[in-house]
Amino acid sequence: MPGVARLSFSIEAPLLKRLEQLVRDGHYANRSEFIRDMIRDRLVEKEWDRNEEAVGTITLVYHHHARGLTDRLTHVQHEHHNVILASTHIHLDKHTCAETVIVRGRAGQIKGLADALRQLKGVLHASLSLSSTGKHLA
Ligand code: NI
Repeated sequence: MPGVARLSFSIEAPLLKRLEQLVRDGHYANRSEFIRDMIRDRLVEKEWDRNEEAVGTITLVYHHHARGLTDRLTHVQHEHHNVILASTHIHLDKHTCAETVIVRGRAGQIKGLADALRQLKGVLHASLSLSSTGKHLA
């Protein structure tokens, strides 16, 4: 690998034991892979904290017959059309729907959209998965 540096660092034995467990639990090939992933996770967190351009997925679960809800969900998504790349609707059962909304934009805009959708009456659960454009992770 070009430009790879080798590091050594000190760590207390109990913490090393926990690190090894995390590496095993995560099915990582080795500690280096785990640490690279951990660093990228922190970098993505920083991107979101700094309101940089980000990518994410919002997942919603709701009852489609809740009064006016489907209209309000559509309205909120149209208000944020500039950050929405795609959405997929799944009919989970006779009453319950799941919808995933894939988004790209400023972190603050994405969080604003997730909050607006979460707050709609009749939404049973909403989660936001935060990721990155990947521009600064290589
Ligand atoms: Ni449905």
